[in-house]
Formats: sequence, structure tokens, C-alpha cells
Amino acid sequence: MTTNATTTETEIALLGGTGEIGRALALRLGRDSDYALTIGSRDERKASEAAEDYRSRLRDRGVEPHLGAAENVDAAADADVVVLSIPPYYADETVETIAPGLDDETILVSPAVGMQRDEDGLHYHPPSAGSVIEMIADVAPDDVPVVGAFTNLSGERLADLDVEIETDTLLLGDDEDAKETVATIADSIRGLRPLDVGPLTNATEVEALTPLLINLARYNDDMENVCVTFH
Ligand SMILES: NC(=O)c1ccc[n+]([C@@H]2O[C@H](COP(=O)([O-])OP(=O)(O)OC[C@H]3O[C@@H](n4cnc5c(N)ncnc54)[C@H](OP(=O)(O)O)[C@@H]3O)[C@@H](O)[C@H]2O)c1
Repeated sequence: MTTNATTTETEIALLGGTGEIGRALALRLGRDSDYALTIGSRDERKASEAAEDYRSRLRDRGVEPHLGAAENVDAAADADVVVLSIPPYYADETVETIAPGLDDETILVSPAVGMQRDEDGLHYHPPSAGSVIEMIADVAPDDVPVVGAFTNLSGERLADLDVEIETDTLLLGDDEDAKETVATIADSIRGLRPLDVGPLTNATEVEALTPLLINLARYNDDMENVCVTFH
């Protein structure tokens, strides 16, 4: 078994880590870093099954990841960084559920985008707070910083470890230290470059990029799983 590129004691919980972007982040971070990862789910058994699947895929590649599993509330309470890899309109509910276990050392990360589909394509559909991440910040405890990251990535593409990525992820946040911690995590994924795009009030521009990318893929050949790289 190989050892990974980074060594850190930071523990990362991927809530809803049983889904598409959670799986992608678990596999990439599991392969490229030594972060301790916990797959979270509303159902502990589902979390354990997903974690076993990811461990098995990584072991097939000669990597022994630090990968555990827990029900979302327990995963969040034990983590330094909590990634809300759950559908956007349930993120506030989930934050309220996990809030009692969070402290001022915890960082919440949102990759979420609110979208609606019609026959022409997908359209940005933010909640009344202005963006999903601002909605999350509104319900998060005051002393818990919220950072936007991984928003415009393709989970499907990232989950395929045969694909070498060269792409950017845009970081949003009002707490510079928290943003720096998340930048370090993002940077540990081979081929992923974190770029700071300012405070949470800039979230609309970031979240609205995702439906554009999906529509681009729909209306053009060979653009499946398109990502953003800035030159
Ligand atoms: N998919 C992508 O490529 C991608 C890329 C960038 C950002 N994002 C964003 O990442 C977030 C997750 O996207 P996804 O595609 O990974 O979602 P998903 O696969 O549809 O769902 C992820 C997980 O969310 C949990 N979940 C479902 N309903 C829930 C509820 N009512 N309350 C709490 N948890 C619930 C489920 O886990 P359990 O049943 O195990 O609890 C599910 O496996 C979204 O906000 C999306 O905008 C997605």
C-alpha cells in the first residue's frame, strides 16, 4: 500500500457522502491525501456500506485510506471540517440538526447549488437568502464559519479515478482562516486548484455557473462533465 501526499490531523466529514459529489470527494481525497475522512449519512448502515465500497475501490489502486462511517450528526460532531454534500434545499434542515454538536473550531463547507429544470435546460434557482450558501450561513451557529467550495465540479468526472483532472474550484467565505483551511484541502486533490473569489455575498455568481456548465454539456458534443479552468 502506498502512503499519500499530505499528512494532517484534520478530520473531514462528508455528510451525504453516499451521494455523487460525496463519493467523488471521498475517492479523490482518499487517494491523494492523508486526511481522516468520515462518510456521513442519515442512515449509519448506508454510510458503512458506502465507506466499504470506497475503501475497496481505493485498495484496488494500492491505497489504504483513512475512511470511516457514521450517522450525519455523529460524523459532524467529531469533525473539524463538515462538507454538506446533500441536496441544496435540505442543507438548512441538516445544519439545524447537526448544530448542537458543532463548535467554533468546526468549518462548514457547501458545494450546493439551487437549480430548476425545464425543457430548455437547467436554471439557477436561489433560495430567498440570495444563494444556498447564504441560506446555510443564516442557520449555522454564529461562531461556525461557512465556506463555499467544490461547487462547479462534476461529481461523475471526479469519481472516475482514471480521469486526470486539471480544473479550478472557487472558494467563498467571510472567515479567511477557514477559507485557507479549505483551500489546503482542495489543493491536496491532484489537479484541483483552489481560487479565492471573496466573501459569501459573491456566492450568486459562483453558484449560477453550474447550470451554465450543465447546459453547455447538453447542447454541445464532447462537453460531458465540463469543468472550469481559469487562465
Ligand atoms: N453531483 C455533482 O456533480 C455536484 C457537483 C458539485 C456540487 N454539487 C452539490 O452537492 C450537493 C450534493 O449533490 P449530489 O449530486 O451529491 O446529491 P445526491 O447524490 O442527490 O444526494 C447526496 C446525498 O444526500 C442525502 N440526502 C438526500 N435527501 C436528503 C435530505 N432530505 N436530507 C439530508 N440528506 C439528504 C443522501 O444521503 P443519505 O440518504 O445517505 O443520507 C444522498 O446520498 C448538492 O447541493 C449539489 O448542488 C453536486
